Amino acid sequence: MRRYHVTTFGCQMNAHDSERIKGMLESLGLGEAVSRHEADVIVFNTCTIREKPDQRFAAHLAQARALKQAAPGTVIAVGGCYAEAQRERLFDLYPYVDVAFGPGSIPHLADWLGVGGTGVARGRFGLDEREFAGELPMHRERAFQAWVQVSMGCNSKCSYCIVPAVRGREQSRRPGEIVAEISRLAREGVREVTLLGQNVNSWGRDLAPEIRTEFGELLRACDALDGIERIRFTSPHPKDFREPVIAAMAECAAVCEHIHLPLQSGSSRLLKLMRRTYDRDRYFHLVERLRDAVPDLALGTDIIVGFPGETEKDFSATLEAVEEVRYDSAFTFIYSPRRGTEAAAMPGQVPEPLKHERLERLVEVVQRIAAERNRERIGLVEEVLVEGPSRTDLARLRGRTRRNTTVNFSGTASAGELVPVEIEAATSATLSGRQAALVAA
Ligand code: SAH
Ligand code: SF4
Ligand code: F3S
Repeated sequence: MRRYHVTTFGCQMNAHDSERIKGMLESLGLGEAVSRHEADVIVFNTCTIREKPDQRFAAHLAQARALKQAAPGTVIAVGGCYAEAQRERLFDLYPYVDVAFGPGSIPHLADWLGVGGTGVARGRFGLDEREFAGELPMHRERAFQAWVQVSMGCNSKCSYCIVPAVRGREQSRRPGEIVAEISRLAREGVREVTLLGQNVNSWGRDLAPEIRTEFGELLRACDALDGIERIRFTSPHPKDFREPVIAAMAECAAVCEHIHLPLQSGSSRLLKLMRRTYDRDRYFHLVERLRDAVPDLALGTDIIVGFPGETEKDFSATLEAVEEVRYDSAFTFIYSPRRGTEAAAMPGQVPEPLKHERLERLVEVVQRIAAERNRERIGLVEEVLVEGPSRTDLARLRGRTRRNTTVNFSGTASAGELVPVEIEAATSATLSGRQAALVAA
């Protein structure tokens, strides 16, 4: 049997796309290889959000090239956002790549690899041929948790961001299709779904008038499905977070008490240059409304340091915002100029050492607060969805709370079960405890 190996970079959207890529390869009769060394078809699903994923991909590709030199029949396929961004020069840069495809052309991968994965045709790109996940063969990574795509593309114009260029205009998937997919997943034993879109809060606005609806209604429809006990979504854009979605979060039992709400910067001046279309006060006000409506809400965020023109004063405003909101978790990034984006051409690019220094200062604050927030959970009993053995200690279990914190704990439960866990200790990133005797969940 011929074998494939897929390496995935980037966000959850890409991870979900890789499930489709694997499903497609398996429908061609290929089996999954344990490592790249045993693979006849080596696939990379790339990310280009910052320079770092580009560099990581280049290092992996060099290794694949060496494998191909040793076994010339090996096929190298490069998909995803970097492939789309470099569509004009990818084959010039890497002549040993056999097939390349953008995030919109996964459905055609089978044609290019040929039946049985033998005949190789050079791929094409194309955002206009995009198709939603769910209508294609799918190799799901987990039995109890699933990603469900609700939209593709992004209509925002954040000045630093390359996603609109590589994923195209926003298109919402029809509500009937989303609900049908989740019902099917529930029958297959899935208990937690994560709805995926670049901006889930604008979902539905581009649908045909007779089915036009909005994200709050979708949450309610998902909540009504039997068997789905946890609903998450990512990412909401603060600018589109409206009252009906907040109300749906408050009223739907299955919607988890966790929101990833990208801040990007605490300086209104920078937010304007970033074209985020909200300012610091509006963001704070939204956080207040969310916390009023959803008690015990966990908040995560994304923050960029070193955006062009960022002064010490702007950066201090970001630090203050983190202190004020008190995030449970935060992804922190050094601004990375992306080809063709508005911000890449802005004056006042911040020198690298200063960006790094600011990142360090920010991470310190983020981690201190996250650790404090997690310590507040000690002594509480949390409902945990068991994911498997703990990564550091195979005798223990690992799972996640509704607030999306990872918990390592001692207990006897199996993967896929919802169990009560008494929290005994905390770090900035994880909790630990033991399965509680009394079933409270
Ligand atoms: N659509 C999502 C974000 C996708 S990208 C949203 O708007 O919520 C994930 C994160 O990467 C962004 O929130 C941002 O913080 C970061 N990011 C995007 N472009 C970047 C760049 N050029 N440099 C540094 N960080 C960037
Ligand atoms: Fe990028 Fe902004 Fe769209 Fe998010 S909302 S994908 S940051 S352009
Ligand atoms: Fe995601 Fe990276 Fe593309 S963050 S949308 S895989 S550029």
